[in-house]
Amino acid sequence: MKNEGQGRERTRFSRRSFIKGVGSGVAGAAVIGSGAAALPKPQGDGDLFDGTHAGPGTVRVTLTINGKNETLEIEPRTTLVSALRDRMPPERALTGAKVSCDRGTCGACTVLLDGKPVYSCLLLAIDCVGRRITTVEGLAEGERLTAVQQALVDHDGLMCGYCTPGVVMAIQGLLNEKSDPTLEDVKRGISGNFCRCGAYNRIFEAALAAARTEKGA
Ligand code: FES
Ligand code: FES
Repeated sequence: MKNEGQGRERTRFSRRSFIKGVGSGVAGAAVIGSGAAALPKPQGDGDLFDGTHAGPGTVRVTLTINGKNETLEIEPRTTLVSALRDRMPPERALTGAKVSCDRGTCGACTVLLDGKPVYSCLLLAIDCVGRRITTVEGLAEGERLTAVQQALVDHDGLMCGYCTPGVVMAIQGLLNEKSDPTLEDVKRGISGNFCRCGAYNRIFEAALAAARTEKGA
């Protein structure tokens, strides 16, 4: 996996721009080892990631996830979604972000990075050091759902629910940027998230309702 996501600009949102944004940070990862003579000493298993090079063994990284620091030992190639789902201690594994296409197409793995939605299957976890990662598990406070989550329940914005965590994060990311979106804004905002059950109209209604709730209207 080579690409890194940087999020998407909410006000001119499109599936194309989403994917473009996701691929815009490739350089940082790609420069690792640009020639045998210039290669730094390989890091061994468990070395602390120094921010400049990594591998071939595992490295230790500290990620800020849902407001808490988590130190994980991962391979440099580990994607963010894999780190969240499979590399956390089992009792704290974050499986809300789903892996469906695993190639930046469906949006099931959407999380927020510094408040903006990204495809976590296209991000390397080591490139998220120092960034603010928010997963769907980090939204509700106890039993109290966020406006977005509650609106999806109230408006029947889900059927099988597989796309729902990603949809929640995409809508939340949209509302972080635009508190009073139009229907067109909403459609663009979640254009990178597929719902195979076809619950789109209700998802749109829920997003607009959540915006009203967040504004206190
Ligand atoms: S699993 Fe990441 S976009 Fe589909
Ligand atoms: S509710 Fe089933 S994929 Fe969206």
